Amino acid sequence: MMNQGYDRDMTTTPEAREFVSLLKSLRAVRQFADRPLPPEAIRDMHDVIRWSGSASNRQEFQVLWVEDRAKLRQLSELKGYARHLAGAAAGAVIVTWMQSDVLNAFDEGRIAERIMLAAHAYGIGSSIGMLSRESRGAAQEILGLSEDRTVRTTISLGYPAEGALRGGRRKPLTELVKRLQV
Ligand SMILES: Cc1cc2nc3c(=O)[nH]c(=O)nc-3n(C[C@H](O)[C@H](O)[C@H](O)COP(=O)(O)O)c2cc1C
Repeated sequence: MMNQGYDRDMTTTPEAREFVSLLKSLRAVRQFADRPLPPEAIRDMHDVIRWSGSASNRQEFQVLWVEDRAKLRQLSELKGYARHLAGAAAGAVIVTWMQSDVLNAFDEGRIAERIMLAAHAYGIGSSIGMLSRESRGAAQEILGLSEDRTVRTTISLGYPAEGALRGGRRKPLTELVKRLQV
């Protein structure tokens, strides 16, 4: 049985701050160093995928973990916004098959964010890369998938190349979060 992680008495404020700081400092990384990922980091990312919540806990998805350079390059050349897969040490390709685009996209978002956060905990950079609808058939072919499998979201992973980390821009908090007065 997995440690449920809800023993809050054991959680100190510094631990909480460190964790929240990890959440806040996640940035997109799209240029990668030519350096392999450590096995323990890969294992943890895979485990995080397993424990990700999903719509009705159905887990109607599979993540294809791609390390083959040729395949990563092929995927990067598809129409979309995933060119950074070409230089990644690994690519996580999320495959879904629920009859609901909304539910699939929600599951994909949760899985993607968790993979990226687990990677970030190890100092590994990442970025989402979306494939255009018209390139999904080609993606199915490259990955040996049947037509009922949807590939839309990929995640490029690797240690950041020098200069890959740029300062992120964000709207002011007051614009994004509004406390409703009772
Ligand atoms: C739903 C979604 C789709 C995204 N699609 C892409 C994409 O196709 N290609 C890409 O390079 N980045 C993609 N991103 C990454 C965003 O561009 C990035 O999160 C945003 O620009 C903030 O970057 P920062 O955290 O480095 O400041 C996507 C992010 C989200 C949440």
